[in-house]
Amino acid sequence: KNIVILISGGGSNMAAIVRTSLRDDWARRFGAKVVAVVSNKATAGGLDFARAQGLAAEVVEHKAFADAADPRAAFDAQLAQVIDRYEPALLVLAGFMRILTPGFVERYAGRMVNIHPSLLPAFAGLDTYQRALDAGCCFAGATVHQVTAELDHGPILGQAVVPVLPGDTAQTLAARVLTQEHLLYPRVIADLLQKI
Ligand code: GRF
Repeated sequence: KNIVILISGGGSNMAAIVRTSLRDDWARRFGAKVVAVVSNKATAGGLDFARAQGLAAEVVEHKAFADAADPRAAFDAQLAQVIDRYEPALLVLAGFMRILTPGFVERYAGRMVNIHPSLLPAFAGLDTYQRALDAGCCFAGATVHQVTAELDHGPILGQAVVPVLPGDTAQTLAARVLTQEHLLYPRVIADLLQKI
């Protein structure tokens, strides 16, 4: 079962998934392996980690499609072509900051997951930490969900909760949530791998 991970930035969730997959021997337990990391930005820090791990590290720059008649569709088509070379049983979005077309979502229906830094259905979209602070939430967290055509709205597969502490800023809250994401995401993926 090949796993392909999509990133746009630092890739700390991707690294946590790769590390856990090796430490917990997903190859033996689930016949599963992270085989490739794909980024829409050549500068994504996570690509270096992927290369250092001996994984395929691919870049499909969304900016290259700016002049296409339908830039999103053209980007997604190229992205799918690269992804499909690895025949993924599971496609993992980990800090992948592009909205995907319905056609792309349909292609990977039932085998694509995402992590979102809020307790969905609260705070879909961007700026989740500041919005949680502004709303006076006592708890924040992260959600792993299946990806469907509606942004941040697919069926929930798992959540992690953290307290909001006095004096929190968006940055301190983000750091607390991220620590939990690194535990949550590999755990949810391991659960999924037992079922697919
Ligand atoms: C995480 O907070 C994730 O929930 C969100 O983007 C961030 C990615 O961080 N979707 P990293 O690239 O995994 O370090």
